[in-house]
Amino acid sequence: MRLSVIGCGYLGAVHAAAMASIGHEVVGIDVDAQKIATLSAGEAPFFEPGLSEILSDGIASGRLSFTTDFGAAAGAAVHFVGVGTPQIKGGYAADMTYVNAAIDALLPHLSEGDIVAGKSTVPVGTAASLEPRVSDTGATLVWNPEFLREGFAVQDTVDPDRLVAGVPAGEEGERAAQVLREVYHPSVAKGTPFIVTDYATAELVKVSANAFLATKISFINAMAEIAEVAGADVTMLADAIGHDARIGRRFLGAGIGFGGGCLPKDIRAFSARAEELGRGESVAFLREVDEINMRRRERAVELVVQGLGGMVFEKNVTVLGAAFKPYSDDIRDSPGLDVAVRLHGLGAKVTVTDPEAIPNARRQHPQLTYVADRDEALTGADAVILVTEWDEYRRELSPEHASGLAAGRVIVDGRNGLDPAAWRAAGWTYLGMGRP
Ligand code: UDX
Repeated sequence: MRLSVIGCGYLGAVHAAAMASIGHEVVGIDVDAQKIATLSAGEAPFFEPGLSEILSDGIASGRLSFTTDFGAAAGAAVHFVGVGTPQIKGGYAADMTYVNAAIDALLPHLSEGDIVAGKSTVPVGTAASLEPRVSDTGATLVWNPEFLREGFAVQDTVDPDRLVAGVPAGEEGERAAQVLREVYHPSVAKGTPFIVTDYATAELVKVSANAFLATKISFINAMAEIAEVAGADVTMLADAIGHDARIGRRFLGAGIGFGGGCLPKDIRAFSARAEELGRGESVAFLREVDEINMRRRERAVELVVQGLGGMVFEKNVTVLGAAFKPYSDDIRDSPGLDVAVRLHGLGAKVTVTDPEAIPNARRQHPQLTYVADRDEALTGADAVILVTEWDEYRRELSPEHASGLAAGRVIVDGRNGLDPAAWRAAGWTYLGMGRP
């Protein structure tokens, strides 16, 4: 099938390459000429495992191309819209500028029978408001939210755990759902749930899924706060409650909390939209979820200060990680980098290391010192804090090895990923989050 993908960021670039990898002929379109040049050369503009391979294969096969020309969308049967919806400046709502601009640029190139499939995360009600303009061209608008996780984006796109299509009522909607089933044929054939619903439900599935995940993380971080004063261990608590199949252990990782380009801004945009709909109180708990999350960053700073005997001024603090999560170079709303910036603000000499995210981090926070090599970054550290659980910090760094490099013996485990007994046995002061 011929497809176009409008917007070639995390979502769009992965979607375009993944659709080409399952046999479609795909053109990716973006206004950023630099990004298009990189993608056209078969290179990923950001770090995402497996993306470079499917990009270069797609380009070599002739099935995948990228352009800044929206005219190239003409002739595609389905046009995916995957542009960003960032948080507006000075507020909580989602900035819809890019979605509106993408639809405006696409409209002149649509034909009777085309499908426009919105993938961006949008405030509920967006599809209904865009629908009249799309249907004026004879095309059909569907909302097809994306649930990919960074670091697993290719896998999540090629083999999602569910597909959701919000379609208009009647035959037109049924036909559109059928076309989407054909687009996603390998997943549909293997029995992946394919849920056909109305626009509002499809939009809400996405924001409520992210709200639930954020709430789950803040729930366990709230338990960590209690555990800290009660002398309990939140990691054992998470294991124990996680055995209840109704709860489940995943996303009960207590630590410095969630960040990234999705969860924080999506819960804020959801709160703003609920207010607009007169139901702010229904999701008032999301404010609390956000606040618990932000408090954990402050707690991490406190632990470093405590580990250093109450004073970080002029102390060498090494921060292991900058990306908001491992297997990503994304630093958007990275809790770890925020902790690094706060420590720097207290006068600590902060050195940040990360296997992938240093160029992005340096651009945003040039005041910090960056060292790519982990061992060089650890050399002379008075205290170390783990903020992103990359394997080279969590699994591959032994306390004995670290002892040979660092000047002090203080480790703060911002992700509860290390073995406290092993670090203590090697003479370190180990401080976890929500662990005695
Ligand atoms: C998220 C959703 O998982 C995905 O379905 C949606 O499409 C986009 O938003 P992503 O932002 O890539 O994906 O990362 P995710 O793996 O969800 O992690 C988000 C943040 O939560 C990270 O900062 C991570 O470190 C943190 N986290 C996750 C925890 O603090 N504890 C956990 O137990 C799990």
